[in-house]
This record gives sequence, structure tokens and C-alpha cells, in this order.
Amino acid sequence: MQNLDDIVARAIGEFGQAHDPAALENAKARYFGKSGELTSLLKGLGALAVEERKAAGAGINAAKVRLEAALDARRAGLADARMQARLAEEALDVTLPGRGRSLGGIHPITRTWQRIEEIFGSIGFEVADGPEIETDWYNFTALNNPENHPARSMQDTFYVDHKDSSGLQLLLRTHTSPMQVRYARMHKPPIKVIAPGRTYRVDSDATHSPMFHQVEGLWIDEHISFADLKGVYTDFLRRFFETDALQVRFRPSYFPFTEPSAEIDMQFADGPFEGRWLEISGSGQVHPSVIRNFGLDPERHIGFAFGSGLERLTMLRYGIDDLRLFFDGDLRFLKQF
Ligand code: FA5
Ligand code: MG
Repeated sequence: MQNLDDIVARAIGEFGQAHDPAALENAKARYFGKSGELTSLLKGLGALAVEERKAAGAGINAAKVRLEAALDARRAGLADARMQARLAEEALDVTLPGRGRSLGGIHPITRTWQRIEEIFGSIGFEVADGPEIETDWYNFTALNNPENHPARSMQDTFYVDHKDSSGLQLLLRTHTSPMQVRYARMHKPPIKVIAPGRTYRVDSDATHSPMFHQVEGLWIDEHISFADLKGVYTDFLRRFFETDALQVRFRPSYFPFTEPSAEIDMQFADGPFEGRWLEISGSGQVHPSVIRNFGLDPERHIGFAFGSGLERLTMLRYGIDDLRLFFDGDLRFLKQF
């Protein structure tokens, strides 16, 4: 059957030219499909005489077997080629030089933060953490700084366009002091805690940034005095700066939430800042109204609080004179630590 041999030869040629599985299935359909050439021949068998039909049928079947074998072979060939291509694509050239991974470093502010936790941790202070989006009540009112009190304007901040679920104005906290109230309302005295974190103000110059870090300290018990504050804080500074050659001064000041209040200044006996008094912290004995907002009795519980700037401490430790360097992300600066 000349016709059948032609068909087989053509089909095998087309299968061989199919370069992907879809093309191969299309080629297959041209022979085996509903109106495929081989199918049509099979359909034509009925019109033949019995003897002829037998011979023709056997021929068509043999052709079918050959074509199916050719199809299987081509399918396997295509799958193999695909696998090879993938392997080649995903091959690793182990002789290429490594890309090198540059190591990150710990940001100087983070170093300060860690040192502070370590030093205060070693003398029994817990470390607490709280929200940066704070209510007006915790940030000001509970700290004896009622609405319309002029002391509020000492700390201008960013207000959030939302009230919290109890209708309190939300704002970005201007200091870590709200953590005094949050922590004291959740813990029984003796309370001995530091709360480091981010704070925000409408400030921007070489020594003030709109986002900065503070660490709050609070020690409340029955006999904690201003003398304890002086001892604890002076000892902290000596350990932080790893020198005893520094002087500390408590300069009378005003905060609504402490009475008496003091700014803590320090002065190095040598180095780049030698002989200059530098303010690093606010502090004081916690005001009786604030003790009451802690849920405690000011006749019984007393203690001190401080709030220090981490940028300030870091600048002094490393001799940096512009705090904006901390936030520029300039690797030439950051790599020095
Ligand atoms: C306060 O924020 C008080 N809450 C501190 C305090 C706590 C007093 C507990 C008494 C008891 P003051 O506004 O002075 O105080 O800020 C404290 C420190 O934060 C400053 O000494 C300074 O180191 C740092 N600081 C304040 N504003 C900025 C700023 N914009 N950028 C960088 N550091 C700042
Ligand atoms: Mg101050």
C-alpha cells in the first residue's frame, strides 16, 4: 500500500520536526484525530470486500503501531531535551569567584541601647517596652501636665488624626515618661525599671532630631530618695563611659511630673568635650500626683525617675558633633563603629 507508506513516512517526519509537546500532539491529531489521515483510512475499510479489508486492516494496524512507537520515542526525546536544557540553565559554575557578603554592623545608637540595658540590668532594673503612638493622657495628663498647661508647649509633637477607642487623642510620644505610668499601673512596688525607645518632637537641628531615642528610668519603693538617684545615675555614667574621670551635676530644673526636678549635666576631665558641661538627662523625684496616677499612695511610696537622650550619650561616647549623622545611613560614617 503505497499510500500508507507515504503517510507513515510523512507522519514520522512531522513528529521529528515537532519541537515541543504541543506541536507533537498537533501532529499526532493530523493522523490519529477524528478526521486524521489514519482514522479516515480505517473508516474507509467498511467499503472494501472481506479479503481486501483484512489485508488493508492489517496494514493500517501495522502503520499505527509504528507511528505510536515513533510518537513515544519523540515524546521521550522532547522530555529529555527539556531536562537537559533545565540542567544547563540551572548549572552552577563552581569555579566562579564568590560574590562576597558584606557584613552589617550594629548601629551606634543600638550599641548605646544595649549597653544601657546591660548596665541597668546588672543592678536589678527590668526592661520594659511600650507604644510609640501614645494617648494624650499617658503622654501628658497622667504626668501632671493637664490640657492647656504651658509646660505642654515644651514638647511639641505630631498628632495622629484618630482618637483611641475611649476617645483619647493619639499622638507620637514626646518622651518615654508615659512608660512610668504604664509600667507602674501593671506592677507592684518595688518598681525598678528602664524603658528605652523611640520618641518624637517637632525639632530639627544639629543636636535635635524629629525622631530620637530616650531611656526612661523609674525606681519606686518606700525609701527611695534623691540621693539614690545621684548614686545610681553617677555610677551608670562612669560605667557607660568607662571612666571615673567625669563629673556629674544635678542642676535645678522644672518638669511637671517631678518635684524636685533636675537636669543631669556631665563634664569629662579630658577628651574632645573636656571642661564643657553637657546636658544628658532630665530627672527628679516623682511628683505625688503622678504617684497617685500610678495607683499608689504618695504617703507611702516614693522614688525617682529620669529620662535620658540616647543620641546625646552616643555623641559624647564617640565624640560626634552632629546627631543627623546617625540617621543619614552613610556607610562611611556607620562603618566606623
Ligand atoms: C524629658 O523628656 C523628660 N521626660 C525627662 C524626665 C524623665 C524628667 C523623668 C524627669 C523625670 P527633656 O525634654 O529635657 O525631658 O528631654 C530629655 C533628653 O532627651 C534631653 O536631655 C536630650 O538628651 C534628649 N532630647 C530631647 N529632645 C531631643 C531631640 N529633639 N533630639 C535628640 N535628643 C533630644
Ligand atoms: Mg531638657
